[in-house]
Amino acid sequence: MNILLIGSGGREHALAWKLSQSSLCDQLFVSPGSDAIGREPKTVNTALDTSDPVAVILFCEEHDIEFVVIGPETPLVEGLVDALETADIAVFGPSKAAAQLEGSKGFMKDLCKKYNIPTAAYERFTDVKKAHDFIEAQGAPIVVKADGLAAGKGVIVAQTVEQAKEAVSDMLSGDAFGEAGSSVVIEEFLDGEEVSFFAISDGATVLPLTSAQDHKRAFDGDKGPNTGGMGAYSPAREGVWSPELEREVLERIVRPTADAMSAEGTPFKGIYYAGLMIVHGKPYLIEYNVRFGDPECQPLMMRLKSDLGELLYDASTNNLSKWDDKIVWSKEHALCVIMAANGYPGAYEKGTSIRGLNHVPESRKMKVFHAGTKYEDEQWISNGGRVLAVTSMDSSLDLAQSKTYEMVSKVNWEDGFYRKDIGWRALS
Ligand code: AMP
Ligand code: GLY
Repeated sequence: MNILLIGSGGREHALAWKLSQSSLCDQLFVSPGSDAIGREPKTVNTALDTSDPVAVILFCEEHDIEFVVIGPETPLVEGLVDALETADIAVFGPSKAAAQLEGSKGFMKDLCKKYNIPTAAYERFTDVKKAHDFIEAQGAPIVVKADGLAAGKGVIVAQTVEQAKEAVSDMLSGDAFGEAGSSVVIEEFLDGEEVSFFAISDGATVLPLTSAQDHKRAFDGDKGPNTGGMGAYSPAREGVWSPELEREVLERIVRPTADAMSAEGTPFKGIYYAGLMIVHGKPYLIEYNVRFGDPECQPLMMRLKSDLGELLYDASTNNLSKWDDKIVWSKEHALCVIMAANGYPGAYEKGTSIRGLNHVPESRKMKVFHAGTKYEDEQWISNGGRVLAVTSMDSSLDLAQSKTYEMVSKVNWEDGFYRKDIGWRALS
């Protein structure tokens, strides 16, 4: 069948790489895609306005597209899935109502409270004075979150009461995130280690995928500003994650969420990306994302042995139950290092020249995914903040780390930087 993938980043490059290997896939259209994505076998880039569902549906009809996979959260939260389903096109991802799990932090927290799902204690506010009084009463550290989507920037872990109050004022005034900040969640600070856990659902069956850990801060030693992610590895390290903990997260967090969503009349179909804090061995839900993580998706796709197209198509058509115990992962460890433009996550330059990419060896276990590049005048140039997602897999995390950094060393890009300690928690 012909498949349409929505998105253009490193996550979508990894999804395109894996989807193009699927036995289901004749041709893979990617919108908007990228020059690097367009070089994958069977793949064609196309520029659709994904905020215009009619345009997407017409394109699907013209090109015999039977299946759509949506990478990023924005089209999910805007309801692209609902529109495609109305037009009888199979699509992987949650409905607009179910995507609220990521689209509204308040929705997610209220659901957890109602159904006893372990998460940080919290209150919701739209009034600055009441929020400030609450912060005064609770003290710091304390966490302030914009309710809506804020491109990964809507969370302030405040070390002081003053900082928390300022964050609330910025958000509720509309200055910081516009409408997305017009309501806030203020929650208890949880001190522990973060793990990302992924599961998949067709709305009825929920199956575990695997775990990962990422590195949110810009610089070595987890210093500097928060970013979309500077590197990741999968699986999560053994000291913090175990098969028992995975079972506990499934039984106490993810499956209860699925039951809750169904009970609320908004069954969830798609990826549960549970951001967890493990505190003294106990898992707490920090947030849900309703899609694969970026850059967690890159190591995940390298480790996935099963046919991604078949898996996602079955999840989209209520046939996930037949995959019970059949989603196969490599036992090996995959590690991804992000190369970002100097200045990221603040202001950065685009259009700087990246050399040496043809000297990086590539195989099933070594791949440079492109997060933000263009190919112009016979050279690769940067076209975003996060630019390359260099990924490899090996029998140990140690070996995967050396191999990935060996690949990174072949890239000659003066205007970029990367963290030199991806994987440190697991390796120190
Ligand atoms: P999010 O954008 O929701 O992923 O949050 C960004 C980061 O803020 C998380 O990855 C955590 O590091 C941190 N964070 C969010 N909520 C809490 C919390 N309740 N306690 C401690 N850290 C948190
Ligand atoms: N790596 C964080 C995210 O995808 O939201």
